[in-house]
Amino acid sequence: MDVQEMLEMMRDPLGAPFFPVVFQVLLVVTWVLHIHFVTGAIGSSTFSIFAFLHKDPSLLRLGRITARLTPNMVGLGIVTGIAPLLFVQTIYDPLWYASNTLAGFWSVTFIFVVMGGYSLAYLFYLKGSKDGRLLWSAVASLVLLCFAGWVMHVLHTVSIRPDQWMNWYAPGGVIDTRGIQFHAYDVPRLMFLLPLQAGLSFAATLMFVAWYLRQRTDADLAFLDWTASLGRRIGLIVAPLYGVFGLLWAFTEGPEFGLTAFIAAVAVGLSAGLFAFFWLQGKRPVLAGAKALGVWALALLVVAVTREVIRSVSLSRFNYSVATYPYIIDWGSVLMFGVTSVVGVSVVTYLIMVIYQSGQSADGTVSAKAEGFGRVATAMLGAWFGFFVLVGLFSSLFLR
Ligand code: HEM
Repeated sequence: MDVQEMLEMMRDPLGAPFFPVVFQVLLVVTWVLHIHFVTGAIGSSTFSIFAFLHKDPSLLRLGRITARLTPNMVGLGIVTGIAPLLFVQTIYDPLWYASNTLAGFWSVTFIFVVMGGYSLAYLFYLKGSKDGRLLWSAVASLVLLCFAGWVMHVLHTVSIRPDQWMNWYAPGGVIDTRGIQFHAYDVPRLMFLLPLQAGLSFAATLMFVAWYLRQRTDADLAFLDWTASLGRRIGLIVAPLYGVFGLLWAFTEGPEFGLTAFIAAVAVGLSAGLFAFFWLQGKRPVLAGAKALGVWALALLVVAVTREVIRSVSLSRFNYSVATYPYIIDWGSVLMFGVTSVVGVSVVTYLIMVIYQSGQSADGTVSAKAEGFGRVATAMLGAWFGFFVLVGLFSSLFLR
């Protein structure tokens, strides 16, 4: 059996429940959210540790804020990681299950690593960030979060190399079921995707937070200006390094798939574009905040598409393509997914409105319009829960 036949046989025999290309688009888009939040968490955690070690009053004040931001960002990163996970499992199931088996020990350990990373970040925020105690918990959390990123990277890197799976599964013909080896990785790629994007996500977040908090009547403008300019300075330092490691990524992983020039062009373009953006902000009296986050989201979208191009090119060598993945439209699943998305997005929109509006007013009030929208969104959620319970009861009682 050759690699192409193996990949075909490992696909879900039922096929995808909807047009596979739609899942591919959703995979790319939701991954942008995931990577922004997890790298933002790594950036804010690193900054808190730095601030508590230096004890400068402004650094400490911001360090306390970022210590609170870290667990929030990890939580959002985990939640937004589940979405691309579902889409990967649907259209790239042979790849994802094979790589999770080949690195089985680490894919199980991953869950505990993420739990530990989150819990320790929360512990530091809750019990340590007031007076700088328990700094070890912030450091341990950062180490665990970085390790989680490493495991994710290995799983992905193994997954796009199906021609090597048999060698890794049974080296020299002897089966190795331990799943303990890191079979494939590309350090420049990981440096580009993790620590450097952590710097940039954090820079954009700082600029956004400073811009957002300026709108309050009781805002401390001097502190917020300092915060925004710190974000800009971090961006200016990290953007060139982003380009350098992007080029190294191009020259290490690129040749294997004939994509050296493509990855290099993306890296140089992103690095130059981001540097120019941060530099131009220096000419403005008030630095852009929402725009900084928007520009960063666009950059991440380019990275997400680049990852997808690399995967597609790798798989095209074995005639595996999302465009030809078999599918049967399952309207029941589509309806469930569609309604759940509408309900979920409405509730999240309500939460964002509450956080946004209450943060802007000195007394934390929210407009009547937002409250009205919230009532509709939560009623929809309640109705949807009720519907699920009924479907469960019906299938348990009548469809056995
Ligand atoms: C909390 C720590 C985490 C970090 C630092 C992290 C980091 C990363 C990184 C760096 C990548 C890109 C790997 C590459 O392209 O080489 C990635 C991909 C991904 N992550 Fe995470 N991640 C974390 C947690 C999670 C969790 C909890 C989930 C799922 C619930 C998740 C789901 C995914 C998925 C589905 C991908 C895409 C895989 C693919 O395209 O093959 N991640 N993550």
